[in-house]
Amino acid sequence: MSTKATLNYNDLSIDLPVITGSENESAIDIAALRSGANLVTIDPGFKNTGSCESAITFLDGDKGILRYRGYSIEELAEKASFLEVAYLLIFGELPNTEQLEVFENDIKSNSVVDEDIKKIIDAFPKAAHPMGVLASLTSALTAFNPSSVNVNSEADMYKAIVKIMGKFPVLVAWTMRKTQGLPIDYGDKNLDYVGNIMKMMFGQPNEGFKVNPAVKEALNKLLILHADHEQNCSTSTVRIVGSSHAGLFASLSAGISALWGPLHGGANQAVLEMLEAIREDGGDTAKFMMKAKDKNDPFRLMGFGHRVYKNFDPRARIIKKAADEVLEDLGIDDPVLDIAKSLEKEALNDPYFVDRKLYPNVDFYSGIIYRSLGIPVQMFTVMFALGRLPGWIAQWREMRLGKEPIGRPRQIYTGATLRSYVDISHR
Ligand code: CMC
Repeated sequence: MSTKATLNYNDLSIDLPVITGSENESAIDIAALRSGANLVTIDPGFKNTGSCESAITFLDGDKGILRYRGYSIEELAEKASFLEVAYLLIFGELPNTEQLEVFENDIKSNSVVDEDIKKIIDAFPKAAHPMGVLASLTSALTAFNPSSVNVNSEADMYKAIVKIMGKFPVLVAWTMRKTQGLPIDYGDKNLDYVGNIMKMMFGQPNEGFKVNPAVKEALNKLLILHADHEQNCSTSTVRIVGSSHAGLFASLSAGISALWGPLHGGANQAVLEMLEAIREDGGDTAKFMMKAKDKNDPFRLMGFGHRVYKNFDPRARIIKKAADEVLEDLGIDDPVLDIAKSLEKEALNDPYFVDRKLYPNVDFYSGIIYRSLGIPVQMFTVMFALGRLPGWIAQWREMRLGKEPIGRPRQIYTGATLRSYVDISHR
């Protein structure tokens, strides 16, 4: 395979290096384009643009492959704990027993947040969207932990990482309890990471808390499936904010805001609202299929389609199976699961969806599981953020250790050319 591409433009001929990744994906390195030919590239939505080289997550959209650090998502979801996966993503290798213990203990000893954070939570209206609250609280953590801002060594980075791994679940749980009018729960150091999240989210003030193993298994799986997904909208946001050396918590807060949108993580909430709307409308899935295909109707089949997966989303397959299992384990009969299945069946046989390679994505079935666990709809995207946290951290750390330059794209200006100021009386 050639290691260079030649660009001919006017009288110029420039050789541009072609780099190849470990899975044989190739890219033209255009770093010399502007200095060599006074050209930049333009690619709205970055559909063809690689923003970095990364050794964290590999995905092949045609074959439906997703791997973290070389391990298949199927195997990790089946066998690993969320904390093991977090360590793997952030530090590159699966931890041995001792490494995992140290990591877990360091996180536990950082899992208390400043009591004044409660005052901030109290100042939000009860109806505030939890994603807005979470982004604000994550940003506020910077003020309470100023030493986490200037991270210039791996040791500093490690401290910031275990701090946020410890405190983020507290913010998530407290955000949810605020919406439910429940007192906050400080968790229990004797529980493991996911068990402790469950206690802080689901524990009732007037009874002891017991971890339900079926719920824990489902939550562990969901968190792993969401843990990283290479250079998506929120991850690219975290990397680009971090590239200005803004600090980990501020970068994560920006990532949370990016995740909130319904075309990204916000789709899980939108899916459940859509399924509910179909149910309330009488369950006529064909009617909503027509709406999704109508170019004059802004309605889209939420939870369908993906920028990269053009065959199937491997996470959706695992989640669909998990939804069946969890609902059975918990003895729940949710009518929206049947609506989801029939929508999927219709879409997979409809030329509109087949021709555009639109398949169910990770968000299509996840909300059904969250709901069965007693998580309110507005919290679904927050749960996505909880899972994505180690991925964002890993990507931020890789970017800082790689000494990547500040992210600063170019543009092609299409506005007015030079003109003279016109006094207001003549406009
Ligand atoms: N329903 C109906 N039509 C769709 C859908 C959909 N869900 N998704 C894409 N299309 C059509 C779109 O109208 C376009 O048609 P045409 O070529 O005739 O103009 C074609 O398919 C290509 O769509 P696109 O918007 O150019 O593709 P994209 O890669 O820019 O967008 C997407 C990908 C995920 C934003 C989009 O498929 C979408 O809006 N899906 C619904 C929202 C959703 O489920 N998002 C979660 C994504 S996975 C998790 C995550 O990233 O957080």
